[in-house]
Formats: sequence, C-alpha cells, structure tokens
Amino acid sequence: MPIVYRNRVFTLSGGDISYVLHVNEDGKLMNLYWGKRVPDHAVHPELSDYPGFASFDLPVYWLPSELPTLGQGWYGTPAVDVLNAQGDHVVDLRVTEHRIIPGKKGLPGLPAVYTEEDGEACSLEIDLADPLTGLAVTLQYAVFEASGAITRSMRIINAGPDPLSLRGALAASVPLWGSDYDVLHLKGSWARERTPVRTPLGQGKYEIGSQRGASGHEENPFLALCGKGAGEHSGEVWGVSLVYSGSFLAGASTDNAGNSRLYMGMNPQVFSWLLQPGESFQTPEAVLVYSSRGLNGMSRIYHRLYRTRLARGFWRDRPRPVLINNWEGTYFDFDEEKLYRIARDGKELGVELFVMDDGWFGRRNSDNCSLGDWTANPSKLPRGLAGLSDRIHGLDMLFGIWMEPEMISPDSDLFRAHPDWCLHVPGRARTEERNQLILDLTRKEVREYVTEAVSSVLRESRADYLKWDMNRNMTEYFSPALPPEQRMESQHRYMLGLYEILEEITRNFPHVLFESCSGGGGRFDPGMLYYMPQTWTSDNTDAVSRLGIQYGTSIVYPISAMGAHVSAVPNHQCRRTTSMEMRGDVALCGGAFGFELDVTSLSPEEKEQARGVIARAKELRGLVQQGIFRRLLSPFGARYAAWQFVREDGKQALICIYRILSEANMPPVRVKMHGLDPAATYRDETGKLYSGASLMYLGFSACIPGDFGSCVMLLEKVE
Ligand code: DGJ
Repeated sequence: MPIVYRNRVFTLSGGDISYVLHVNEDGKLMNLYWGKRVPDHAVHPELSDYPGFASFDLPVYWLPSELPTLGQGWYGTPAVDVLNAQGDHVVDLRVTEHRIIPGKKGLPGLPAVYTEEDGEACSLEIDLADPLTGLAVTLQYAVFEASGAITRSMRIINAGPDPLSLRGALAASVPLWGSDYDVLHLKGSWARERTPVRTPLGQGKYEIGSQRGASGHEENPFLALCGKGAGEHSGEVWGVSLVYSGSFLAGASTDNAGNSRLYMGMNPQVFSWLLQPGESFQTPEAVLVYSSRGLNGMSRIYHRLYRTRLARGFWRDRPRPVLINNWEGTYFDFDEEKLYRIARDGKELGVELFVMDDGWFGRRNSDNCSLGDWTANPSKLPRGLAGLSDRIHGLDMLFGIWMEPEMISPDSDLFRAHPDWCLHVPGRARTEERNQLILDLTRKEVREYVTEAVSSVLRESRADYLKWDMNRNMTEYFSPALPPEQRMESQHRYMLGLYEILEEITRNFPHVLFESCSGGGGRFDPGMLYYMPQTWTSDNTDAVSRLGIQYGTSIVYPISAMGAHVSAVPNHQCRRTTSMEMRGDVALCGGAFGFELDVTSLSPEEKEQARGVIARAKELRGLVQQGIFRRLLSPFGARYAAWQFVREDGKQALICIYRILSEANMPPVRVKMHGLDPAATYRDETGKLYSGASLMYLGFSACIPGDFGSCVMLLEKVE
C-alpha cells in the first residue's frame, strides 16, 4: 500500500522513495523524512524530537514542520501567510482529519499530473484548522507507486465569519536534515535559457523566482538540493518542480540548528488573495522527486511523469512531425508564393509540416503593430489562410500557424475598439515591450474574445499545428476591472484565465499539435506542458549554444517536450558557423525536430545533406522522443558534450557525442554509457560489436576532428 497510517504517522512510499509525516501531540504536522525508501513503520516520531535542548528559540522553530506559519515562534518563509480580520497574521493550524484515497484528483482550473488508472497513485488529504479565525487548510498529496514522485498542493479555505487576506501560499515546504547541500537551479535569459547553476547552500537563504507574470527566461520553477557528492549518476538529490506558468517563489534555507528547508509556491511580491467567508484558494501543484542515483536519476523520474502523465492528448505519444518554420528564413518578409516554395522544397527533402510564423495578419510587417487583428493580410496571402493551407495540404503536408493570442498592439483595430482590454494601472503610462501590451485575461469578455479569435483562425486555416507565442513579461500587472482590494490577485487570475482558454481550445481542437513559445523558452514550464506537448526551447538555434540549453532543460523536462531546429549559418544569434551535420546531430537529439531557414536558398549539396539529416531524424525520433535519456558529459566549460538514449525494451541505444573546440595531439574521447545490459552484445552502425560491459565500464570511443563536430551512433542489441 503506497500510503499507510499508524500511530499518527503517515508513510507515503513509491519506487525507491518514502515521505513520512507525523501528527504530533499538539496536532501539528511534522515531516519526519523524505528520502530513500524505508519500510512502512521504520521512521519513529522521536526522530524529530530535540530531547532536552536548551535554546533561546522555541521548539517550533527547530521542529520539522510540514506547514510552517507565522506568529508563534517560526521565523522563516511561511507556507501559509494569512492576515486575519483582527489585523494579525498568527496562524495556528492543527490536524483534524485525513483521508487516504486511491488514484489522484485533478486541481480545479489548474494544470496537474494525472493518472490513467487509480492503481498508479494513491492520494492523501490532511485537513487542518485554526479555530480562532476559521482558517482551514487541506493538504493534498499523491504518491506515484512506480516512480515515487510525490505531488503536493493545498486548498486554503475561509470557514470563519470574517474576510481573510491570503498573502502567501507555498505548494510545498519540506524540511531536510543537515545543511551540507548544494542548491541547483536553472538560470538564464533570452537565448541563454536554463543554464544549470550549482552552488553551496551555505548558511542563510537562497531564493529564486519570477515576478514577471510568466515563469520566465531568468529562472525556471525548479529547485533542487544535492548531497555534496551527488553527480549525474550517483548521490542524493531532492528536487521540487512547480506545475505553474506564472510568477513563483522558490527557496532553500538553513536554520540555526543546522537544518534546511526547500520550498516553492506563489510569489508574495505579486500575489495576495481575498478570501470571503466560504471561499477557498487552490495552490498550484509541486512535484517532489528524490533520487539516490544522482541528477540523471531525478531527471528520469520527471521525464517519464511529465511525458506520460502531464502532457496530454493526441500527440502525447505520437512521433512529432518534422517541421519547417519560416521565421529565420524570411522574418516578416514573405508572401504566399515564397512560403509555398519553402514548403514545396521542404517536402522534397522529407519535411512533414510547414509552419507559417509571425507576420501573416493585419498590417504586420514588423513587430510594431496588429497583435489582436487576427485576419490574414491580403497583400501577403491573397487567398487568405484557407488558400495557403489548401496548397500546403495539397503537397500532402501538414499546415501550421503562429499566433500570439495573449497580446495586443496599441496600433491595432482591437486596441482602438477596446483600449481598456489590457492590464494597466489607470493614470499611469502603460509600459510597452516589443511595442505591445498584455490582454487582461482576468476579464471574461477578453477570454471569450481570445478563445474565439484562436478558434476562428484554426477553423479557417484548418491548421494541424499552432505555435502559441508570448513575447513580453508583465508590467503594471493589474486589472482595473477588479476592485482595489483584489488587484493583487491580477497575476494569478490572469494565469487561471489563460489556463481556462487553453483547456477549451485544446479540447475543441484535439488533433492540433500545440507548441508553446515565449521568445523561445521564456515559459518552458510544467504548466504549459499540460496543454501543449512541446515548447520552443530557445530562439538561439546555434548548435553549440543549444548543447548547453538542451542539456540544462533536460534536468527536468523530457526530450519530447523540446523543439529543436536546424537553422542557417552563420547563425543569426551567435554568428557561429557549424556544419549541417553538427546542426542536425544536435537538433535531432533535441526532441521535436525541424528546420528553420529558407530551404530554397540551399545549394544542391546542402539540400542533399538536409535530406540525410531529415531521414536520420525520422529514423531516430521514436528513440529520442520516447527513450530513456541520460546526460553523460556536460558542455559547460568543456571540450565535449555527450548524452544517450536507451529504448524502453533495451533493444536500441543511441550515443551522441559532440566536439566543441578541438585540441591538438589528444586521443579520441571515451564516454561511458549507462543503463545497458552488461552481458549483452551491441552492434554499431559500422557493424562493430561491443559488449555492454565494455560500453559501460570502458566507454564508447570516438574520434571527432576539428571544432564543432559530432558522432551520433545507433547501437542495436544483438539477440
Ligand atoms: C519569438 C519566437 O520565439 C520566435 O520563434 C518567433 O516566433 C518570433 N517570436 C516571432 O515574432
């Protein structure tokens, strides 16, 4: 049984992981343990006692609370922060009831991991109450039986007679013994997304987050603590990932008893919520993963869970079509004929999906106008969306289209008709970014407009694919439609509005492949993955930069969730020139593969190379998108990068080694593989045979001459 309750102790166990809670004599909920699996009754409550300690601090500060709150001796970041009608924020929550329930429920209005059968997971709900104010909390947990991934969220209820003001709500706050950890997070910017940063936790507080109204390029809603010796393949790691796409706060802290805490949830800088009597607030869901097999062990759990039980729909398990996108090929300078020629030449090379990017609507010939005016520009598309779409479909290709539905250009018919439809503060300038403002999705009529605008484009174009872009962060992030005492709810209400729109559109267009995008990977998060099975990883398409971006992204996200394209050289972001082979080998191992260049301008020789890359991508996409991925050599500050894939049945493996800068007079690189059958024999594409043991313990060796080279080798298990 994945959840057992005895002697006031809850033990949640799955895979190789246990999470143990205890209701102490005061009715307070303590976290006794989160780590490698232990037998059901092996963790005793005394483990959390400090027998006879003398301290200036009250015990509550040192005890491993599962739900720390303010006002009674806890001085850290509270899991629930509520200002009550008396004007204080003392919160005293004690356990009243609990329920153990098979399966896992969804969260109303929010993305969440799910089960397909009840037996996959078991849920626990623990009710707590503060009798003085009537504040009540239901903690919601689910443990996935096979992997041990644990989801945690909470519902905060005002069961009292007076309004309450919720000022902070964490999805998870977990104590960990000791403080000898490194913090790991994914830092970035536009075109440099998700660089892993690992740094000693130290003695204090390490916080990351976003106030941008999007998860953002700068930080990802993920934080891990790593045991000191933990590496890619061994050691202990505790990860927290938030299934949310808006602003967030994440942190790791140490207390003066030398213990630590890992937490993540709503960002109180840009969030508060008024709870009238009888109302409740649901936090997003955190996904907690412990690994005793290093970072790759943690990633494997996230990958499988997010690929199969967070992503949804028709395309979840299907091979993603090889696409060609015209953005870097034409930018705004195109018409139907130009696009048709790109699609036709792409088709000849093996491309399956043509995507028309930004610039097809209104008067949009640069980024300074027309967002909101979602009708085709007749000077570019004289036969409208349907005319182009018919011609693309006539090539026996799928047709895809770009939209940025959450935005409004001040120079647009939509803005002229509805100048109040954007987020703004009356009396203040509306800060523009990329010449655009953000629609106020807290408003029902705006949500209805967006849903209808997208639906009518999808209907008219009969599109098979939609790239849903979002190219700025929030400023003046308030809805004037909300009363002043609720304006701080605007950012979260915006996210709920966006999720409502996405739910409706993805339900109504179940066969459309949706790709999320935000200036590349500015909203690459588990929340968007629930609605869209792939995300444009970065606007940086340079093969060498992509090694780092894809490597960092893979710490949490499955390879199938990443979009990766071959673009022209010199690369538009870095001005670096790499071979077609290198660009292909990086992109085809980066998930949803495509091209992003004017294929009509390629030489016959380049076209032949592109044809080879596309054939290779099709041959390998099953393994890349569904296989078990492991990082082998980090590209950061290194001369090589490497990763591998193994098919779930173990019959195929793919080793991918990339040479960054070359060095004179050095032997071939040798890379040890993992997860193979040591007793089996493997044959590579040249016919060479290897024992699994030699690939794992001696390594696969490759000689890659010159700068920016690659070796992607398929290994078949010989029966
Ligand atoms: C940002 C995206 O990341 C690009 O791929 C492209 O779609 C542009 N927006 C278009 O404006």
